[in-house]
Amino acid sequence: MVKICCIGAGYVGGPTMAVIALKCPSVEVAVVDISVPRINAWNSDQLPIYEPGLDDVVKECRGRNLFFSTDVEKHVSEADIVFVSVNTPTKTQGLGAGKAADLTYWESAARVIADVSKSNKIVVEKSTVPVKTAEAIEKILTHNSKGIKFQILSNPEFLAEGTAIKDLFNPDRVLIGGRETPEGQKAIQALKDVYAHWVPEDRILTTNLWSAELSKLAANAFLAQRISSVNAMSALCEATGANISQVAYAVGTDSRIGPKFLNGSVGFGGSCFQKDILNLVYICECNGLPEVAEYWKQVIKINDYQKSRFVNRVVASMFNTVSSKKIAILGFAFKKDTGDTRETPAIDVCKGLLGDKARLSIYDPQVTEDQIQRDLTMKKFDWDHPLHLQPMSPTTVKQVTVVWDAYEATKDAHGICILTEWDEFKSLDYQRIYEGMQKPAFVFDGRNIVDAEKLREIGFIVYAIGKPLDAWLKDMPAIA
Ligand code: UDX
Ligand code: ADP
Repeated sequence: MVKICCIGAGYVGGPTMAVIALKCPSVEVAVVDISVPRINAWNSDQLPIYEPGLDDVVKECRGRNLFFSTDVEKHVSEADIVFVSVNTPTKTQGLGAGKAADLTYWESAARVIADVSKSNKIVVEKSTVPVKTAEAIEKILTHNSKGIKFQILSNPEFLAEGTAIKDLFNPDRVLIGGRETPEGQKAIQALKDVYAHWVPEDRILTTNLWSAELSKLAANAFLAQRISSVNAMSALCEATGANISQVAYAVGTDSRIGPKFLNGSVGFGGSCFQKDILNLVYICECNGLPEVAEYWKQVIKINDYQKSRFVNRVVASMFNTVSSKKIAILGFAFKKDTGDTRETPAIDVCKGLLGDKARLSIYDPQVTEDQIQRDLTMKKFDWDHPLHLQPMSPTTVKQVTVVWDAYEATKDAHGICILTEWDEFKSLDYQRIYEGMQKPAFVFDGRNIVDAEKLREIGFIVYAIGKPLDAWLKDMPAIA
């Protein structure tokens, strides 16, 4: 029986291994992590991450051929294939601070593999890593190998949160990069055999190591670039009276461009896009390509611009001050159908409004008060360390309350900011909400999900990203 071990039971490791276990009953899969609470949660009825369909997959396989454990050494030493899916935070100090990836957790995982291995192993990079990480890992492993042979593969994961199970069941492609030696090709084939249990052969792409590593960064950069392009256009739409949804639709019907990832928004978030682009920028700079680095930097700059533009709209519309005003924040997760808040645009928007002394009442169907307080007090990039190593702020943000109901959040509020596109926000009773609010009552739709005309009929002043401006807003300066 082939044995697989995955180091790191996070958003990537957990769902990916659960699906491998489901689709390959003949393979034994162990997912290990240094975080005891995380592993306990994976072994309970309350999984540590919210992902549609994940519960069913885990229930079917857990205890059969899927195991979650903190015994990293035991499972690594028994495995034929070791996936590594640990944190790769952006460095906050030293060389490459603010851009380069911190490979501390990767290196420690590699050292454990070298220490405990008694048989040859295939080591698979699963978490996104900077190009040439495989080379560094290879060096750590071979210099500590005691005669054991390791083959390194890069097998980046393309799943998106909220649709992870669907994406894993039916991936556009599986990418496997390896050395172009006979041993490297044999390792690629062994991993291919695992995926071949359910992925059609023509969707399993094989490349060299560096192409696989770079393809992951490139794919995320291209996707983020589409969003920044549409968001840049949204600012122009507001200035000219064009409508971003109509423009995006017209552009997206060109079959060469396609309709996906063209929704204007308050900005992209998530654990990957910004981090991967920063990484790409750093790699370009290190390789003497400053023009290429500058090009990709713009994608992040526009994303930051979009978030501060949104905050400016809110403050400017409300007579240039939100001081002591209650503002309801609907949605805190970085997108719908996930409880994940990593790099969510809501953090910057809330911080911007708090900077103007607003009082915030936040509601998200999946995000806890503890997480929101953590996010609003944590330093940039600190989120990407294992939970038990994240510095906890001793203070909470007092101007923030977190509630479990959209109606409570909006009661007596002066304005509402919709920051995540949860379906339930589309069907709220906005008449009831309007009646409970201070007047004039404002809605700032950062996701273009409400029917702005209907809301205007109720009496709201509505701002929607990239849509023709309400007469009220036309008189207000967009950029402070
Ligand atoms: C992304 C990639 O899609 C995935 O392939 C990779 O493996 C990890 O990074 P994820 O971050 O989970 O996945 O979510 P994604 O659906 O890509 O959305 C990222 C952000 O962009 C979200 O904040 C989302 O709201 C925003 N977005 C997406 C837009 O603002 N507009 C769009 O049209 C699409
Ligand atoms: P991703 O979104 O890439 O899956 P996560 O932060 O959700 O990232 O998960 C990474 C996991 O890796 C965390 O649960 C963390 O505790 C774990 N981890 C980090 N370093 C190690 C290590 N050396 N050994 C085992 N687990 C680790």
